[in-house]
Amino acid sequence: MEKLAALMMIFLLAMPMGHCSLEGPEEVDEWFRKLPHAKEKITKLHFFFHDRFAGKNVSAVRVAHASSTAKSPTAFGLVFIMDDPLTEGLKPTTKELGRAQGLYAFSGQEELSLLMAMNLVFTSGEYNGSTLTVLGRNPAVPHREMPIIGGSGVFRLARGIASAKLLEFNTTTGNALIEYNVVVIHY
Ligand SMILES: *[C@@H]1O[C@H](CO)[C@@H](O)[C@H](O)[C@H]1NC(C)=O
Ligand SMILES: *[C@@H]1O[C@H](CO)[C@@H](O)[C@H](O)[C@H]1NC(C)=O
Ligand SMILES: *[C@@H]1O[C@H](CO)[C@@H](O)[C@H](O)[C@H]1NC(C)=O
Repeated sequence: MEKLAALMMIFLLAMPMGHCSLEGPEEVDEWFRKLPHAKEKITKLHFFFHDRFAGKNVSAVRVAHASSTAKSPTAFGLVFIMDDPLTEGLKPTTKELGRAQGLYAFSGQEELSLLMAMNLVFTSGEYNGSTLTVLGRNPAVPHREMPIIGGSGVFRLARGIASAKLLEFNTTTGNALIEYNVVVIHY
């Protein structure tokens, strides 16, 4: 409990890094003022998503389930929280472009299907510090299509589609490798 209180304190007292940074409500107001003249652009992103439950660098944890989950053929009620690395290449050791932070929940009673609620948090290159928010259904089909419902930083007011394709799944560990293609409209 003491540790949690200390973490809350750090979170609440977080200070801006410098005085001169043009971030904050004034900059956001200015951005919206210019919006009528801004041009829409389309950005495409490609990366690999590593969901790891075992081995080095575990990145997803099981946090909740219902009393009936164990009996459900579709794991209905099971919830995971993830902070999964997004890399440029297939291998987890290739350049990290960001993280997928959020949760997924087994939300189908009749079929295997996940609710995805996550932020793609970019940590390198021109999108460093910007985020995209994915909220959608991730069914057990070869190609999954999930809506991008917003973003921050470079991706303010973004909307688009994240297409996911499962490339590898280890039935022993649960570790998964997923290829993501993202197309977003933003300004
Ligand atoms: C685990 O993470 C460390 C530090 O980020 C990294 O150097 C290492 O390559 C990772 N290992 C695997 C197997 O991903
Ligand atoms: C991303 O931005 C953070 C915060 O501004 C900075 O500390 C970090 O070095 C940047 N990372 C890269 C890879 O540019
Ligand atoms: C699954 O993971 C286990 C444990 O790391 C490993 O021994 C096994 O080779 C993996 N299976 C496949 C098909 O990659």
